[in-house]
Amino acid sequence: MMDIYFLFTEDFKTCNLKDYEKYLSGEEMESRAKFVFQKDRDQYLLTRALARKILSQELGVQFSSLEFKKNQYGKPYLSEFHKEVVFNISHSSGLIVLAVLKNGETIGIDVEKIDRKINIDIRSTVFSPQEIQDQSMLPEALQQQRFFELWTLKESYMKAIGKGFSLSPKSFSFIFGSEGCKFLENPFESAPEQFAFHLYEINPFYNLAICHQREMKKINSFRILPYWEITNFNMDPKLLI
Ligand SMILES: CC(C)(COP(=O)(O)OP(=O)(O)OC[C@H]1O[C@@H](n2cnc3c(N)ncnc32)[C@H](O)[C@@H]1OP(=O)(O)O)[C@@H](O)C(=O)NCCC(=O)NCCS
Repeated sequence: MMDIYFLFTEDFKTCNLKDYEKYLSGEEMESRAKFVFQKDRDQYLLTRALARKILSQELGVQFSSLEFKKNQYGKPYLSEFHKEVVFNISHSSGLIVLAVLKNGETIGIDVEKIDRKINIDIRSTVFSPQEIQDQSMLPEALQQQRFFELWTLKESYMKAIGKGFSLSPKSFSFIFGSEGCKFLENPFESAPEQFAFHLYEINPFYNLAICHQREMKKINSFRILPYWEITNFNMDPKLLI
């Protein structure tokens, strides 16, 4: 079962953020203090508070008993005592998203702000030759849209396998055709067809992509904190791969 939680930092503007500091360790409080901008300090605090509150609820334990580890590429995960729950976090311009998966092996998510113009020339550094060719055949406005679709899908995969940017985003492809989109995996990574993808344009401002093992298909809920209900979001997937 997969649950997706959204937190807009703006919604917490009037809250006393001091109340959330209990979720941070001493070391994390020090890391938080190093951010130059207040918005980054708030995002750091709220991300950890969100993860600890939700993960401890899912597991039915005290948040203070959660032990977090990181793989060699920086992907956080819960220690072996709580390994029945896996999660991944993404943030983009005031929105924090947490995906929680019970009894699954891995999950990767990416949220991207899409109401901005991208210099399309950077695609040569991040997309595969096939993706670049496909994209360049589209009208200019659609090229922008496709850029964000590809980018969000790619990051969700790089984060699901836990390698982040140590895996070149050019080494695998999403190929759009008349029958939908096909994922062409890097043959050195893992078995083909192992992963499934969901892509959402949740509103005119954000794309969300989720990558998980093919057999773990069902998304149980989408919730916005602190209100616990979805408002003005389009939760029909734009694409399922
Ligand atoms: C993981 C990575 C792809 C995130 O990209 P991003 O678009 O900047 O950030 P997102 O908001 O989508 O995701 C950040 C979150 O992903 C998680 N994360 C970090 N490393 C991860 C990894 N290797 N795999 C999956 N998730 C990871 C963390 O929870 C992080 O949030 P937090 O720092 O608040 O805990 C990228 O930062 C990365 O590859 N980091 C690895 C280290 C590295 O290669 N550094 C060189 C940077 S040039």
